[in-house]
Amino acid sequence: MPSILVTGANRGLGLEFVRQYAADGWRAYACCRDPGTAAELRQIAGKSGGRVSIHALSLGDPESIQALAQDLDDHPIDVLVNNAGTYGLKNFAQGGMQAQAFGSMEYDGWEHAFAINTMAPLRVIEALIGNVAKSTEKKIFTVSSSMGSIGEPPGGHLAYGSTKAAVNFVMSTLAMELRGQGITVMSLHPGWVETDMGGATAPLKPAESIAGLKQVIANASLATSGQFIGWDGNRVPW
Ligand SMILES: NC(=O)c1ccc[n+]([C@@H]2O[C@H](COP(=O)([O-])OP(=O)(O)OC[C@H]3O[C@@H](n4cnc5c(N)ncnc54)[C@H](OP(=O)(O)O)[C@@H]3O)[C@@H](O)[C@H]2O)c1
Repeated sequence: MPSILVTGANRGLGLEFVRQYAADGWRAYACCRDPGTAAELRQIAGKSGGRVSIHALSLGDPESIQALAQDLDDHPIDVLVNNAGTYGLKNFAQGGMQAQAFGSMEYDGWEHAFAINTMAPLRVIEALIGNVAKSTEKKIFTVSSSMGSIGEPPGGHLAYGSTKAAVNFVMSTLAMELRGQGITVMSLHPGWVETDMGGATAPLKPAESIAGLKQVIANASLATSGQFIGWDGNRVPW
């Protein structure tokens, strides 16, 4: 039975990743900050016959990442998905865009976003690389964003966009460094999706985005390792 680990699995895209892979019969390690309040995720786990387990993971805390690695011991992970992310200390409704615009940057929010969106994915990969290496598929993904594109910047979003551009650099570099171990590494763009982060006017539903990303994950191989791919299978400009 293939296995997947997903961070930020209590809501939004992470929850949908777990829902769809569990429905396909995968073993899923679902990570979230507070398993006690993750009602929908617990429902999915409860109906999975033990195939979905829930693990506490707070990505701003390196000790929490180490504890997860110990908890997982030497269980193989075929597909590792760094999905959790943040727009910053303030979301859109709280004036988040203004808080990361030129002239009104709130630097503590940028630091926070960098820790969660850029540094934490690398920490998770470093902690779990042994589990991926002993799996069959050997694939690692980070859910990035086209807002991190340097070639086609969206305008504004200085903090969030730069943390995604930076994590793309991390993933592209790891693709080179891990190729020798047969490990595929990729950045993903989920599209603009109706979640807490994407908001109510987003054109895509989580189910559609994740169905597309599942196809991208299935098709990913060493031949395409190091690419930045969207939910529709198309390459995203760096
Ligand atoms: N939705 C979009 O349109 C869109 C577009 C492009 C890229 N993305 C990317 O897609 C990924 C998923 O986004 P989403 O739309 O599903 O967002 P979301 O609904 O806001 O969910 C974010 C997830 O990340 C988790 N998270 C945030 N900070 C964390 C921390 N310090 N430790 C552990 N978990 C943390 C949240 O957990 P809590 O519930 O505990 O806060 C939640 O599970 C993100 O990386 C995002 O940047 C989204």
